Formats: sequence, structure tokens, C-alpha cells
Amino acid sequence: MSGAPRPYAASRPLVVADVTLDPPGRDEVLVAVRAAGLCHSDLSVIDGNRPRPLPMVLGHECAGVVEALGPGVTDLRVGDHVVAAFVPSCRHCEPCAHGRPALCEPGAASNTAGTLLGGARRLHRGEQQLNHHLGVSAFAEHAVMSRRSLVRVDAALPFEHAALFGCAVTTGVGAVVNTVHTPPGARIAVVGLGGVGLAALLGARAAEAAVRIAVDLSEDKLMLARELGATDVCNAADPRAVEFVRELTHGGVDFAFEMAGSTRALEFAYRITRRGGTTVTAGLAPPQSMLSIPHLGLVAEERTLKGSYLGSADPERDIPRFIEWFQGGRLPVDRLLSSRLALDDINAAFDTLADGRAVRQVVLF
Ligand SMILES: NC(=O)c1ccc[n+]([C@@H]2O[C@H](COP(=O)([O-])OP(=O)(O)OC[C@H]3O[C@@H](n4cnc5c(N)ncnc54)[C@H](O)[C@@H]3O)[C@@H](O)[C@H]2O)c1
Ligand SMILES: [Zn+2]
Ligand SMILES: [Zn+2]
Repeated sequence: MSGAPRPYAASRPLVVADVTLDPPGRDEVLVAVRAAGLCHSDLSVIDGNRPRPLPMVLGHECAGVVEALGPGVTDLRVGDHVVAAFVPSCRHCEPCAHGRPALCEPGAASNTAGTLLGGARRLHRGEQQLNHHLGVSAFAEHAVMSRRSLVRVDAALPFEHAALFGCAVTTGVGAVVNTVHTPPGARIAVVGLGGVGLAALLGARAAEAAVRIAVDLSEDKLMLARELGATDVCNAADPRAVEFVRELTHGGVDFAFEMAGSTRALEFAYRITRRGGTTVTAGLAPPQSMLSIPHLGLVAEERTLKGSYLGSADPERDIPRFIEWFQGGRLPVDRLLSSRLALDDINAAFDTLADGRAVRQVVLF
């Protein structure tokens, strides 16, 4: 599947087929998946930018219904609505114990290995074991996941909206309110306006950032960003783009968020950050990509450069919190939903994502 040729509608790197799913083991849960969003992190496995153990059942942003509980799961019930977080948190390792479950060490190790948190693979095709994607593997009618990957959510929430909280919303909004605590009145910019970047823009509006500059290479994305509350927009391909932002903000933004997954975009975000400001990056560049920045400026301008994974979130705390913001009208993340599709159309939908023609496309089951 790695590095599949375009168009995917023809090369079909994702095969829709029947596979065997084992029953949930200890501390695991069987979930009937109802909605699963397509994220660039799935695309990065398909195009080879994020090497993962293959074959793998992709999909890591979903909502569904608990169908069966493995031994030891006492705090969920059959019929509960759940959202999956793409990092399971063990609750015991050092980052978990220090309130940083997005950095869970066993969670990261099992995600890299393509297993569930407990180390098992529950997916097979004949004799062949299949890998789990980020402990979730949501492009399927059913999934077995660790209890520690799941957050119970309000059953009134439509599945197609609930799914978005698993990745795009938590990553984007979390970067703005957790990774940095964007204060009211701040000047911010978001570079890269997919599901993650536009969620960050909505988060910045909810946090009452006063200047919200949206940056992309696509004019359509810039137009959508204006509708979603950008106060200014800027095409990164414009040779005067950096100057434009720096002039507009009298020296640069307080917080720039790179959410494109490209080192060029991160360089851009760094250049539009002001003296004393912070550049946050959530984009996942290919592993060999290196960033070059002026060392002196980092020091003499007291700049900060920060990574942000899963929005530095505690999914148990943040997913219900961000859902409340959505339900209260403060975070209109339903605007990120571009289209609904059937699983059979998923390869063509990845062409649409790769072409930048959609924000969040959601598979409904
Ligand atoms: N850190 C995390 O926890 C986390 C979680 C989810 C996704 N991601 C990563 O975040 C990135 C964004 O994901 P997405 O699903 O929103 O992607 P997407 O493909 O929907 O959107 C990316 C956007 O970036 C724009 N872009 C590309 N190069 C650019 C440049 N040089 N300057 C400005 N804009 C540029 C594209 O036009 C597109 O609109 C990906 O790299 C994804 O893997 C990270
Ligand atoms: Zn994702
Ligand atoms: Zn942990």
C-alpha cells in the first residue's frame, strides 16, 4: 500500500474486504463504528509519508456504539456512545501520571507497533494478522479497541459530528487552548486549513483571539476560513505573504500554528511569529524532514517553538468539554464536515483530500 500511485480511485490502495475480528480481550471493547472521518494522517500512510506496519486497517477518527465489553471493563455499558482518541493512555506511565496522556509511552509504543494498548492484534485476514491504526482502525463496521482509547460522549450528538472530536477538533482546538493558552486579544495565525487547521481557527475564535489570520495555498480554503471567523487571509504562495502578515500585525503574530504537515509551512509560521512569540507545530512531516531556523534569533528574540500532539489533550477531560462548546454554539465544528460517503467510495475520497478539495469527509456505516 505504501506510496500508492494516483489516482487512488484507480490504484485502490484501500481494499474493502471482509476480515476476522476477534472478540475483545481484557480491558478491550467491541465498538460498532457509525461514522469515521478521513484525516491527512491516514493519507500519509497511503502516500508513504508516514511509514506504518502494513497491512493495516486505517482510520483513527470515529464515533460509534459499544456493542460488547471485554473482561475488566466496568465503566462502560453496551449501548454507550463513544469517541475514539488516537492515543490510548495507560494512566500509569510518567507522562500519564503528570497529566500529559497524549504522550503516553505504552500508547505511543503500541501505536508504532500497530497493536492495541495491551499488545494484541484482533484483526486477521485468513492466516495473516492485520495491524491496527493508532489503536482505532475505524474504516470498518466494527472495531475492537482498548478501553483506554475510548471516551463516552453524549448520545444526543450525531455520530458524524461526534467523530470529528476524535482527531481534528481535539488536535486543532487543543493546540490553541492546551499546548499554548491563547489569551483573549491575542494575534494568531493558522498555516494549513484542513480539518485540523480550521478547528484551530474555530478554537482561536472561541478563545477570543482578536486577530486571526488564515494561511493556505488554496483560495477556496481561504474563503471558507473567512466564513469560519478569520479576520484576515493570506495565500502562502504570494511572494509578499510574510511581509503582509508582519505589516498587518506590526511585527508578527503572538502565536502561529503550523497545521499543514510541511516543513515549508513551518518555516513560514516561524517567520510570521513576532519577537517573544510562539510557533506551534501540529503538522506531521515525513520523518526525514529537517527544519533550519536562525539560532541567534531564537535566543535574542526569545522565541518559542513547540510541538503539539493530539492537542496536548487529556481526551477524558477535553472531548466532553469541546463537545459542550459545540453544543453551546461556541465551536461550530459541524462546518468542518464537507461530505458523507460510503466505505466503497473511500479511495476516491482520498484523492479529494490529497487535492485539497475537502475538509472532513466522513464515512457513515
Ligand atoms: N499533531 C497531531 O496530533 C495531528 C493530528 C491529526 C493530524 N495531524 C497532521 O496535521 C496535518 C493537517 O491534517 P489535516 O487532516 O487537516 O490535513 P488536510 O490535508 O486536510 O489540510 C492540510 C492543508 O494544508 C495546506 N497546505 C499544504 N502546504 C501548505 C503550505 N506550504 N502553506 C500553507 N498551507 C499549506 C493544504 O492546502 C491543506 O488545505 C497533517 O500533517 C496531519 O498528518 C497531526
Ligand atoms: Zn488524524
Ligand atoms: Zn501512559
